This record gives sequence, structure tokens and C-alpha cells, in this order.
Amino acid sequence: MATLVTTVTETLRYRGKIGQWSWVFHRLAGLGTLLFLVIHVVDTSWVYFFPELYEKAISIYQSPLFTLGEFILVAAVVYHAFNGLRIVILDYRPEWWEHQAMAAQIVFLATVVVLVPTFVLMGQHVAEFYGGRPFDLRVNEVIVDVGLPFGGGMIIVLVLGVILSYLFGAATGSAGAAGMQLQRRSRFEQLMWTYMRLSGVALVVLALGHLAIMHVINGVFSINQSGEGLAANFVAARWAFLGWRLYDIGLLILAMVHGFNGFRYVVRDYTPNPIVRRGLNWAIVIGAVITIGMGAVALINGVPAG
Ligand code: HEM
Ligand code: HEM
Repeated sequence: MATLVTTVTETLRYRGKIGQWSWVFHRLAGLGTLLFLVIHVVDTSWVYFFPELYEKAISIYQSPLFTLGEFILVAAVVYHAFNGLRIVILDYRPEWWEHQAMAAQIVFLATVVVLVPTFVLMGQHVAEFYGGRPFDLRVNEVIVDVGLPFGGGMIIVLVLGVILSYLFGAATGSAGAAGMQLQRRSRFEQLMWTYMRLSGVALVVLALGHLAIMHVINGVFSINQSGEGLAANFVAARWAFLGWRLYDIGLLILAMVHGFNGFRYVVRDYTPNPIVRRGLNWAIVIGAVITIGMGAVALINGVPAG
């Protein structure tokens, strides 16, 4: 907690240092995208597990609070992608580090340049959709059908991880081949460092491509406006083409592992207590396995007929 407070206060104190702001925005954008992605993958998998619930989820997505959230999400993914590329380039070209302040400014500028036309196009879809409809925030459904079950589920997984960690610590003590463990850990960390960069570069194409298809080419409101008004038919038509399934499976695995591993870095920064840290790491593994598993089962089986 103290480290978290220091991060916030120091960021404000170092006002004007662009590198500090880049770091904060990168972290917030990454965590926000991960939060969205967990909800998004679980409810996309309902197209296979619970088709009626899937229709309900898509209809709630088409309410004003989610529409606002989608603009924020697109901004977050675009900024995180560009800033991630800056990190990757500077990591592999340390001699360019002296230009890092300029590079951070270019990232902010490039984000604005991409977002302005994107928001105009998204805005046209929004204007078309809300044009003929009464303005209904549907706050009740957002809280009861999305906030409570997903928030509750995430809290249960986090608490479960910490309890398991405590029991594990009590059962094994701190004994063990510490040297070997450290060596193995640092090899794992090196691997994840490289993974974050390679997956990041692949995600620039996959995640931005997916967003362009959903928001600019189709428009999110068209998901349940063709094919007899069923969102499942939109997904079925896309998944009928093996190429899109492979695309989605690549996106699913790369983004989930990248996002959850990024979350692990954040946890490591703010949890000095080893039991809590190990617990949260377990929660991260459980969360990743559940979400990737549900998403993959739906993608492999496809949309049930009828
Ligand atoms: C509000 C923005 C978004 C909308 C409207 C949207 C829409 C959809 C739709 C309709 C599908 C069904 C399959 C398909 O048609 O390909 C899908 C699947 C998927 N989307 Fe998105 N998407 C959004 C943002 C994102 C983002 C930012 C990511 C990742 C960074 C992402 C990752 C995925 C994945 C991994 C799947 C497959 C899920 C599964 O297997 O259950 N989506 N999305
Ligand atoms: C779109 C292309 C993307 C690129 C180029 C990218 C790149 C990066 C890079 C280079 C890092 C730093 C890794 C390190 O510190 O070793 C990072 C961290 C992170 N990324 Fe991404 N990423 C992308 C997409 C995503 C997506 C889709 C998510 C969410 C599912 C995400 C979530 C995170 C998180 C939570 C962190 C940790 C932030 C921190 O430690 O402050 N990223 N990303």
C-alpha cells in the first residue's frame, strides 16, 4: 500500500517529467485492458456455453456506459500499443535512449493522430444507433448483471489464491533448494521479458486489427443487427472461416498471457508480503487458466446450431 501511495504522490510531484507519465499511462492502460479482456473473453465464451446470456451481454454492451467505456478502451489499447513499441525499440537499441523524451512525445502525438479519425468513425456508428432510441443508462443491469458477478468472481479468485498460499507456506515452511529456485526463477523472468516484447509486437497487429474490425469496419452496434438480430449469428458467420478462429485463438493466448504477466509485475511492485504476493500470483494463474480455457473451448467448438 505504501509503495502504491508513493507511486501516486511521486508521479504528481515529478509533474512535467514525460517518462513518469508514460510509465503511469502504460500501466493503467495495460491493467484496464486486462480487466475488460477478462470480462470480454468470459462472455464471448457464452456464445457456446449459454447462448441466451450471450445475447443479453451484447445488449448490455450497447448501453451508454459501455459505449463510453469502449472509447476509453480503444484509447488505452492504442496508447499502450504505441508506447509498448517505444519500450521494445529502446530496449533493443539502448544507444537511442538519449532520445527517449522525444520518443515519448511522438507516442502521445501518434496516439492522438490515430484516435481523432477513429473516434469520428466510431462516433458516426454511435450517432446512428442512439439517434432513434430513448436514452437509457441501464445502470441497474450494469451493476447487477456485470459488476456484481464479475467483481465477486474476481474477489473470490484473489481470496482463494491468498488462502492457498498461506496453507502452502504452512505446509512446506521456507525450506527448499533456495539457490536452484533462484536460478530457475531468473531464467523464467528472462523468458517472460522476451515474451512480453515479442507478444507485444504481435498484439499491435492482432489487437488493433480486431478493434478496427469491430469498431470501424463493422461498428459494435451491427453485431446483433444483422442475421435475425442475433449476436450469435454474427459470431457464427465469422467463426465459419477457420482463419478468423485461428486469429482469435492467437489473440486470446497472446493477450491473456501478456496481460496476466503484466499484472504479475504490478503485483510484485506493490506487495512486500511474500504470502500475499504468492497468493496473488496463484490467483493470476487460476484466472488465466479459467479465462483462456473458457475462451478456447468456445473457439474450438464454435456456435451451437439453432
Ligand atoms: C469493445 C471492443 C470490442 C468488441 C466490440 C469486440 C467484439 C468481439 C466479438 C464480437 C467477438 C466474437 C468473435 C469474433 O467475432 O471474432 C470477439 C472475440 C474476441 N475478442 Fe474482442 N472485441 C473488442 C475488444 C477486444 C480487445 C481489446 C481484445 C484484446 C486485446 C479482444 C480480444 C478478443 C478475443 C481473444 C476473442 C475470442 C474470445 C473467445 O475465444 O471467447 N477483443 N470480440
Ligand atoms: C497492443 C500491443 C501491445 C504492446 C506493444 C505491448 C507492450 C508491452 C510492453 C513492452 C510492456 C512492458 C513489459 C515489461 O515491463 O517487461 C507491457 C506491459 C504490460 N502490458 Fe502490454 N502490450 C500490448 C498489449 C497489451 C494488452 C492487450 C494487454 C492486456 C491484456 C496488456 C497489458 C499489459 C500490462 C498489464 C503490462 C504491465 C505494465 C507494467 O508493468 O507497468 N498489453 N506491454
